[in-house]
Amino acid sequence: MSVINRRWVLASRPNGQPALENFRLEEQELPDPGAHEILIHARYFSVDPGMRSRLSSDSYAAALKEGELIEGAMVGVVQASNNEKFAAGDLVTGGFGWQEYALSNGRGVAKLNASLFQPPLTVTTAIGILGIPGLTSYFGLLDLGKPQEGNTVLISSAAGPVGATAGQIAKLKGCRAVGIAGSQAKCDYVVKELGFDACINYKEVDDLQAAIAEHCPDKVDIYFDNVGGEMLDAAILNMNEKGRLIISGAVSEYNKSEPRGIRNTLHFITHRLRMEGLVVYDYFKRFPEAQAEMAGWISTGRLKFTEDISEGIEGAPAAFIGLFEGENHGRRLIKVS
Ligand SMILES: NC(=O)c1ccc[n+]([C@@H]2O[C@H](COP(=O)([O-])OP(=O)(O)OC[C@H]3O[C@@H](n4cnc5c(N)ncnc54)[C@H](OP(=O)(O)O)[C@@H]3O)[C@@H](O)[C@H]2O)c1
Repeated sequence: MSVINRRWVLASRPNGQPALENFRLEEQELPDPGAHEILIHARYFSVDPGMRSRLSSDSYAAALKEGELIEGAMVGVVQASNNEKFAAGDLVTGGFGWQEYALSNGRGVAKLNASLFQPPLTVTTAIGILGIPGLTSYFGLLDLGKPQEGNTVLISSAAGPVGATAGQIAKLKGCRAVGIAGSQAKCDYVVKELGFDACINYKEVDDLQAAIAEHCPDKVDIYFDNVGGEMLDAAILNMNEKGRLIISGAVSEYNKSEPRGIRNTLHFITHRLRMEGLVVYDYFKRFPEAQAEMAGWISTGRLKFTEDISEGIEGAPAAFIGLFEGENHGRRLIKVS
């Protein structure tokens, strides 16, 4: 039996901060699954700051065209299947966007490993700490940062899902973790609940470079950057010799038509610094090993996470826009009613 699917599409390209009118909620009738196809009923999908780039121009994936489905990660249940790899009732995940149903030929669909998703690992963690955000922290910090015991690791947007996970993994590796976040409540969360050693509320300091110096008396060995712009430049001036800068994201730059860019490049020469970006999908084959290790840390209470879930597909654009106002406390997800 065909279903009526509601989905958010790009209505117009944002100019600067995205606005509600850039998004349009559409209804479409989906046919029954054809040969080798499955119909997935969404339970949750994600809103992600990195998606902002694709609303305006090409990113690591091509820019969305007007009228195209908005991108997001989904966890859902197979409602009907003509594909031998999937059965009705299977829990699956994939990049199916902001919509209630997805019709798929099975490519890019992953079945949730039932042995992994046991309490306290809810299905939402498949698109949270055990999904793209957590994996970005894991591979960014461990593969690119190569943390050594005693290193100081500085993390921007430290209360977000990527930053919070990166800081905790740094602690698990015997490092000193110092966060930067946009409110006292977020700083209290990362220090008191997640075990970071210190946190700087960047909205309350006049001189971020000096504040980093104060909280990192041995300087910074690894900077895990989610923000870019001025914060990155302030971090560069606090790096130790042979320091590593991991470029995970640049949320302060996504809404700008003219990015500020990096200014303190001279420090790269004098301090022999190395900066490297990552696209987490490059590690796709190694996702299971990372998920298994992180699941172990979570089950023994050494890795914590927070999810910020709102109900109803209607609220997705506002939830997304709020990411650029610092509204989210943890991984922001939409529960599909
Ligand atoms: N490279 C990859 O493969 C990959 C994969 C996934 C995600 N990422 C990137 O990782 C970063 C973190 O993602 P996430 O999912 O964990 O989201 P997130 O950090 O929760 O992003 C939203 C937060 O960013 C901060 N923010 C927003 N505008 C800002 C500004 N102008 N200056 C400073 N901070 C600002 C806010 O926190 P405050 O209240 O602290 O300001 C806000 O709550 C993003 O840049 C994302 O694009 C990269």
